[in-house]
Amino acid sequence: MSQTLVICKPDAVERGLVGEIMGRFERKGLTIAALGHRRIDRETAERHYAEHAGKPFYEPLLEFITRSPSVVMVLDGPADAGDDVFAVVRTLMGATNPATAAPGTIRGDYGISPTENLVHGSDSESSAEREIALFFGAVAASNSKADR
Ligand code: RTP
Ligand code: MG
Repeated sequence: MSQTLVICKPDAVERGLVGEIMGRFERKGLTIAALGHRRIDRETAERHYAEHAGKPFYEPLLEFITRSPSVVMVLDGPADAGDDVFAVVRTLMGATNPATAAPGTIRGDYGISPTENLVHGSDSESSAEREIALFFGAVAASNSKADR
């Protein structure tokens, strides 16, 4: 799986940081395979974050991610990047809590709230596959390098 799912969350769109975030991924060497501006509905958010159901931050997370539009994308790694594209994205994102994320990362440079942390990236190959299907279905597959 040379692709991964990235979401510029509502705070990133509201603050005008989408270009900055996407630029970091592009300058790293990743390319955009699919892209959409959409307000994530409650059902999609619940499916996307199902692993966190019941946790204390779950409801605030769903309220946050559904409150205004996000920019959702599939990023492609170069042919020789192997299957670790999701990990490359996670490294650029930084730790979950922006207050302690390293400077130089997206969260470390632009965030401070534990909930409003700007960006989502799939956390494994299997998550990437599931999340790309959830948000893009066949669209991402038809744009992938394998089909070009
Ligand atoms: P993401 O899934 O959004 O890429 O973030 P992540 O893997 O770094 O972190 P995860 O543990 O999956 O948490 C999902 C999102 O829930 C919100 N969160 N808030 N208030 C809190 O303590 C707290 N903890 C997590 C964040 O928006 C986090 O990205
Ligand atoms: Mg996560």
